[in-house]
Amino acid sequence: MLLASADIISIKLASRILATGGLVAIPTETVYGLAASLNQEAALKKIYRVKGRPTTHPLIVHVADLVQARTLARNFPADAVELATAFWPGPLTLVLPRSGSVPACITAGHDTVGIRVPNHPVTLQLLRELNAPLAAPSANRFTQVSPTHAAHVAIDLGQDLDLILDGGPCEVGVESTVLDLSGPVPILLRPGGISREALEFVLESTVAEPPAPGRATPSPGQHHLHYSPRAAVRIASSAEIWPLALKLSTRGNKVRVFSRQPPPTPLEPASNCDCWNWSDDLQTIARDLYARLRQADTDQIEVLLVELPPPTGLGLALADRLRRAAGHG
Ligand code: TXA
Ligand code: MG
Repeated sequence: MLLASADIISIKLASRILATGGLVAIPTETVYGLAASLNQEAALKKIYRVKGRPTTHPLIVHVADLVQARTLARNFPADAVELATAFWPGPLTLVLPRSGSVPACITAGHDTVGIRVPNHPVTLQLLRELNAPLAAPSANRFTQVSPTHAAHVAIDLGQDLDLILDGGPCEVGVESTVLDLSGPVPILLRPGGISREALEFVLESTVAEPPAPGRATPSPGQHHLHYSPRAAVRIASSAEIWPLALKLSTRGNKVRVFSRQPPPTPLEPASNCDCWNWSDDLQTIARDLYARLRQADTDQIEVLLVELPPPTGLGLALADRLRRAAGHG
């Protein structure tokens, strides 16, 4: 494995590796992706092996622009054009009926494909250089926390990749919003970097609720135990979070609190408890969240007590990821 700072030489190298069936980790504005060329079937299958991902979970396809996106969909409804125009390049994946150019091995038996134009200059340059779409799930092992820094990818998957393009830390920090436009009404399959409110504003209509937790869903990647650190993640209300933290730490558990509430009294530096005091700035929380979850493991935290942000704007995606980290769907 090679970790390369993303200059034009390494982008050309990445393009050559992908064109000849290799795997490259790519930076995007959301999280790092584990990419293979859509024209390289053996490499597409290798993505599943490297991730340890069931083949029943489809991969999303990254393209350079709307023109390339159109080649992957049998039809591209007016709603999709409006959303693509408003939000691409950006953290929105549109699920559409797939065309014959999408290999069956990435669609998990579905007649649809998820497509997005990522908003990262390195990956956009790579897509132009390669002149082929890139299938890429997040570059982490199945059910683990997604990577937002090149170093996360190197630690998790380094041995199995041909190249990691280091494009710096991901600016959005949570995955793209996945919107299904293949049926009669738009369905939000996964909340993400583009808020539901922003989608509804552009569509001038409501977007259906994400499927209820625990139900079989048309977005099989939305596994209920996902984005999980090793620490036990527990959701607590703002009223109960500190009393619970202090109780657990007094019993000897190593506890970390993610909350807007500061501790009721300053924490002793030698105590078993510390905190990440959230601001109201959801963008900063999203950008840092996955690195904070990983840091909790590095610091051997046993219990992570989390207060959910309000489920509006980016808060909907944050609440979704934190619930899944806690093992609730
Ligand atoms: O931000 C992102 O979307 C990142 C970066 C790398 O682009 N990618 C990502 O990919 O998160 P992945 O595979 O980890 O998650 C994609 C999600 C999964 O929940 C998958 O089931 C869903 O999108 N998905 C993909 N294609 C689909 C399809 N045709 N129908 C329904 N759901 C689909
Ligand atoms: Mg993922």
